[in-house]
Amino acid sequence: MKNPRARHNFVGRTCSITGVGSYVPEKILTNAELEKMVETSDEWITTRTGIKERRLAAANEFTSDLAAKAAARAMEMAGVTADQIDLIIIATLTPDMPFPSTACLVQRKLGAVRAAAFDIEAACSGFIYALEIGQQFILSRTCETVLVVGAEKLSSIVNWKDRNTCVLFGDGAGAAILQHRENSHGLLTAVMGADGNKADLLSMPGGGSACPATAESVANGMHYLRMDGKETFKNAVNAMVSAANEAMRRCEIDITQIKCVIPHQANQRIVDAVGDRLKATPEQLFINLHKYGNTSAASVAIALDEAVASGRLQRGDLILLVVFGAGLTWGAAVIEW
Ligand code: UT7
Repeated sequence: MKNPRARHNFVGRTCSITGVGSYVPEKILTNAELEKMVETSDEWITTRTGIKERRLAAANEFTSDLAAKAAARAMEMAGVTADQIDLIIIATLTPDMPFPSTACLVQRKLGAVRAAAFDIEAACSGFIYALEIGQQFILSRTCETVLVVGAEKLSSIVNWKDRNTCVLFGDGAGAAILQHRENSHGLLTAVMGADGNKADLLSMPGGGSACPATAESVANGMHYLRMDGKETFKNAVNAMVSAANEAMRRCEIDITQIKCVIPHQANQRIVDAVGDRLKATPEQLFINLHKYGNTSAASVAIALDEAVASGRLQRGDLILLVVFGAGLTWGAAVIEW
């Protein structure tokens, strides 16, 4: 196995994930409950997506609250206190508000007074983008401890009258602590990609400078998430497979050397198609979308935490994360656990 980072000038420096944690809100919304809200059925949702239920944040629970709770768990696992954190990066498309950043609000909630803080927006691919950004600060010795969180309150932008989208999404957060560790490889490589020509496939048109909030924009549903499901599906499978293959190529490994493949948890059929094309076995694939639906930037972060908690990963095992989302954006990362 090759560490592609070795060719860079980061002598003796690696980036390990020393702690992971996740948090999902208590409230569960089942398919049976959705049947009472829109014209849908448990049978349709299960066969088309694999989702059985999703979590919904309370009215007074925001993305920063979910993020702070997931972060606290990752910090506990890493043995890190708030004052040790140098940088907080939050990946989200549902920030508490346009500004200040959710990362600053999380900094306040954690009491991480020394930390710099910013958000990144790469939709469902955000956690891999954030990991890769965070790792650069560790490798360059700019930071010793970086907190990376994928967190979403998607229920705040879902149109609960649109059956095409409301059955798919949920709320939650997943976090990781990044640090240098002697004799450890950590994050071996991260592939990131984007195609802005397909930005319209999945978007929320309102609320930005192109379409500020007005009574008319709200009445026209501009502040809800919109998706062309079929086209998004096709693009997702192709982009995830090629990103995963590129990540493995860079590390000079093949799928048989990966202990656990953690794909973006949007749809069981996407996971199956990606798994088939990568020739991953069902035992290699980690799936929790039946419990949470699509939690966007939080998706692989929550799944990574649950995979670790399940005891299936030993230190030294290789993990393949692979993501896809609005933008379009995509990514894949190989992690030596
Ligand atoms: O996180 C970013 C990545 N996101 C994704 O990758 C999501 C990608 N897309 C998908 O997962 C799938 O395309 C969906 C689950 C969104 C839809 O599945 P599909 O097999 O592509 O279904 P479809 O859009 O072709 O819809 C089939 C039918 C339509 O009815 P007609 O036109 O055939 O009469 C829909 O109106 O199913 C209907 N339909 C529903 N029926 C019952 C759509 N949503 C529902 C629903 N319940 N909730």
